[in-house]
Amino acid sequence: MSEEARKDRLAPVVETVDAVREAVIAAKRRGLRVGFVPTMGALHAGHRSLIEAAKRECGFVITSIFVNPTQFAPHEDLAKYPRPLDADRRLCAAAGADLVFHPGVETIYPSGFSTFVTVEGLSNILEGKFRPTHFRGVTTVVCKLFQMVPADFAFFGQKDYQQQTIIRKMVAELNIPIRTRVCPTVREPDGLALSSRNVYLSHDERRSALALSRSLTLAHEYLAQGGSDFDLIRQRMWALLKETPLVEPDYATLVDPDTLEDVSTAVHTVVALVAARVGQTRLIDNDVIDLPG
Ligand code: PAF
Repeated sequence: MSEEARKDRLAPVVETVDAVREAVIAAKRRGLRVGFVPTMGALHAGHRSLIEAAKRECGFVITSIFVNPTQFAPHEDLAKYPRPLDADRRLCAAAGADLVFHPGVETIYPSGFSTFVTVEGLSNILEGKFRPTHFRGVTTVVCKLFQMVPADFAFFGQKDYQQQTIIRKMVAELNIPIRTRVCPTVREPDGLALSSRNVYLSHDERRSALALSRSLTLAHEYLAQGGSDFDLIRQRMWALLKETPLVEPDYATLVDPDTLEDVSTAVHTVVALVAARVGQTRLIDNDVIDLPG
């Protein structure tokens, strides 16, 4: 196939649970490892890197595209969330996905649906404080997708640090037979973390949004040079966000990589986490920082 034809190819799509399960079973029968990349579509280079990572490790790769209503609060952007299915299928094919699972809402949440999965504690802090039902929606849909797509490996981005921590805890505690992989955040050359929501940013907001990655760099440099006053650095990260026009910070903190609780004494690794509204768009970012010594 020519390079041109390859670029234009749309990954095949299935919509039913039976069809996606059969595809997984057939791939396993052929002796292939199955990799799974759950997404909500509006795919960008960050998703592409997840699919490519899956393809490096697995002979058969499935990407799901499902804009999950239960992880949006009523005032959030469910209705306007971008849904460019053909472009997404093209990106999936180019990145090496063999199949797209694109279920309808009624397939995931049949009428009368009332079973939810919650990881207590971790779901109520940080993002959970600002989006109280968000992680319940995420863990419910991911748990369901893992039943529908019984893959060997699932791939998530570090960009959603709290999400991947919660999902890995759910997988361990519910004994779900799937191994999770976490892949690095992909950034624009100027540092902005890729997000499907970046398309909402105006020109000025796009410039102000750099305050998130800058506040992480501030923390990284301070800690890498041996700085250990965690409260001071939290204040500086917050101040940098707060003084940037169009940016309204929700939190800027340093946490333990597993418990996500604020760190106050010396540890090996901390995660710097920030969340802010830039105009009407809410953005998050993080950096995992190994402390010297
Ligand atoms: O990270 C996302 O895109 C979503 O939260 C996920 C994991 C696909 C669940 O809907």
